[in-house]
Amino acid sequence: MSIDTGPTVTINGTPYALPTDPRTTLLDFLHQNLALFGTKKGCDRGQCGACTVHLDGEAVRSCVLPVSAAAGRAVTTIEAVGQSALGAQVQQAWLDHEVVQCGYCQSGQIMSATALLQRQPAPSDAEIDAGMAGNLCRCATYTRIRAAIKDVDAGGAA
Ligand code: FES
Repeated sequence: MSIDTGPTVTINGTPYALPTDPRTTLLDFLHQNLALFGTKKGCDRGQCGACTVHLDGEAVRSCVLPVSAAAGRAVTTIEAVGQSALGAQVQQAWLDHEVVQCGYCQSGQIMSATALLQRQPAPSDAEIDAGMAGNLCRCATYTRIRAAIKDVDAGGAA
């Protein structure tokens, strides 16, 4: 439910009231308050990247970020990343390269890849490895992830 008074956080373009419990993480807020389940909970400790979303365009781990830290800021989740030209290109590249295996980590992978390409439109292999280092994949789809990222013409999409 969107509101128009009090501190808010904007999620995928819609403002929402902050929860009263300051311990609520952004990830739990997405799941429990907004039923946005595309963002996954893996380690819940900030170490696997499954929960990656964008905060003002930067990739962040939503499992360790209090939603209050996002007050007045804009969050984008996997549900809306495809609304940007770059996000849509990244998603298409994931399909073209059949990146996904079990799929659990892939929303976080796409969010990190989109943030990487936003700041580095043509990353080298080393830059991809560094930019994606915080996103683990137990199916080891790393080769396809790298190929998909290299296939995105981020200069044209950004
Ligand atoms: Fe957040 Fe693993 S679930 S980093």
